[in-house]
Amino acid sequence: MTIHIGAEPGQIAETVLMPGDPYRARWAAEKFLDAPKLVNEVRGMLGFTGTYKGNPVTIQGSGMGMPSFSIYANELIRDYGAKTLIRIGSCGGMQEHVKVRDVILAMTTTSVSTPSSTILRDVNFAPCADWSLLSAAAKAAKSLDVATHIGGIYSSDTFYDERPDLNEQMVRHGILGVEMEAAELYILAARHKVRALGIMTVSDHLITGEALPSSEREQSFGDMVEVALEAAFT
Ligand code: HPA
Repeated sequence: MTIHIGAEPGQIAETVLMPGDPYRARWAAEKFLDAPKLVNEVRGMLGFTGTYKGNPVTIQGSGMGMPSFSIYANELIRDYGAKTLIRIGSCGGMQEHVKVRDVILAMTTTSVSTPSSTILRDVNFAPCADWSLLSAAAKAAKSLDVATHIGGIYSSDTFYDERPDLNEQMVRHGILGVEMEAAELYILAARHKVRALGIMTVSDHLITGEALPSSEREQSFGDMVEVALEAAFT
């Protein structure tokens, strides 16, 4: 047990998928894993462990934003020995050619700050995805016929952003989408020598204003979970 995760030692798999929403963790575990078992419900941040094609997998909610994400990722890596962490979440589209429902594989993450800024200080560290996971996810997305973009994303500290000029600069510099967790994941993975990837479904669009209807969110989320699971075990 850790401060925020109630699982016993050995109940967390080396491969962990991390949706922001704990109910999404339950939905994905019940739909894609064999014999899913609830291993954490501290603060309602549900985590489940089961198997995918015989491989042990944990799906653990992370909450929203890098401070919350960092707590769960730190404990999963440092206390439970997680070796492959894949964020599965949603993001806002930032380029015209990136459409709602499309999936983004985050090659790099740009941010103003992350919880790790306190130790990196004035260094502009370059957080990037694990190449083996990124290339496996690209192959999986292709074979599952999921519309996919690979490139840089922006990990923001604010959902209700009062600095439109920041988003403008992200768009101008080719950033594909905005979310709120992946930069800290990539920095933690680098620090602890584990594999990480962020896979995001575009749920809304900052330029076109389009949003994924709630009736379609489940299917799109399912595509992303499958890409993540296939990538983890390739
Ligand atoms: N901003 C930040 N995070 C997000 C967004 C957004 O527009 N959409 C989904 N996650």
